[in-house]
Amino acid sequence: MPSSARPSPDLAIRLGRLHLPNPILVASGTFGYGREMAGLVDLSTLGGVVPKTITPLPRRGNVPWRTVETSAGLLNSIGLDNDGVDAFLATQLPWLLACGAPVIVSIAGATIDEFVGLAARLDAVPGIAAVELNVSCPNVSHGVDMGSDPELCRRVVAGVRGATSLPVLAKLTPNVTDVASVAIGARDGGADAVTLINTCQGMAVDWRRRKPLLGNVIGGLSGPAIKPIALRCVHQVRRAVEIPIIGVGGIMTIDDCMEFLVTGAAAVQIGTASFADPVACTRIISELPAAVAALGAGSVAEIVGTLALPGPTSSPPPSVAHAS
Ligand SMILES: Cc1cc2nc3c(=O)[nH]c(=O)nc-3n(C[C@H](O)[C@H](O)[C@H](O)COP(=O)(O)O)c2cc1C
Repeated sequence: MPSSARPSPDLAIRLGRLHLPNPILVASGTFGYGREMAGLVDLSTLGGVVPKTITPLPRRGNVPWRTVETSAGLLNSIGLDNDGVDAFLATQLPWLLACGAPVIVSIAGATIDEFVGLAARLDAVPGIAAVELNVSCPNVSHGVDMGSDPELCRRVVAGVRGATSLPVLAKLTPNVTDVASVAIGARDGGADAVTLINTCQGMAVDWRRRKPLLGNVIGGLSGPAIKPIALRCVHQVRRAVEIPIIGVGGIMTIDDCMEFLVTGAAAVQIGTASFADPVACTRIISELPAAVAALGAGSVAEIVGTLALPGPTSSPPPSVAHAS
């Protein structure tokens, strides 16, 4: 390396009490429990793994069809199919923890008490990095209730905060009128960070058979189609709360990732991209140092939220303005 070469940018990030080696995580429900992908991806290189959401008891999920490819994204109505917390702790988590990536356990309950009970169980398990509250699943009845109402969101986050010393992330839904107000509820409840976004409600139809394509009729849209919606949510929440944001929604490339970082996400999650290209996450991690350096920054943290908005006082920050 020439002596004038800059050191590689610092990729480490902080999400409240959660410290991660880099900002590229894999999203819940799109990476299984890690085992399925381990032949392709060295999990220890990831910023974090968020396994499929677990619930207190096993759930069979929704009737088929549960996924449909549309012209501009993936629709799913899995319905939180999972084996329940006991099976997760006994069979999936030990293996995943041994892989070396920070593990952020995604949990969902039908009531605040169920969320709190799950958090208390996880609190007793060594090695977990954080919990992510899935208050945003569009595919189960009442799945988004606690992510739609700011006060309910505050109460579930506060309940979980009281039950565990683990960092708490609240994963929010875009299927609301005012996502910022729900993020404020999460912040007031004590969330370390918010994850934005879960899927956008959608539907696919076979007009010849006059039938919906999903067994559950309505599902959640993900993939490139929802990136603009996710960016808009990150932007609105960034202006409303000071806690860190994890951006997710349609991130397929390093350019998508950088768009989220400059808009205000301190980290990102890769979701549907993993179905098309299981190594998308590692590709983006490998391309991140050059992209950060291209902005003239020495760390990922420096570029978070540096978006220059239109207006007389919003010129780009110097490191961005002078990037070659
Ligand atoms: C098949 C599928 C299953 C999912 N399951 C979950 C889940 O269990 N818990 C959760 O919080 N999000 C779940 N999601 C949402 C993703 O984690 C992510 O928030 C969403 O797909 C948007 O990101 P993307 O466009 O990169 O996929 C699921 C998404 C898909 C496509």
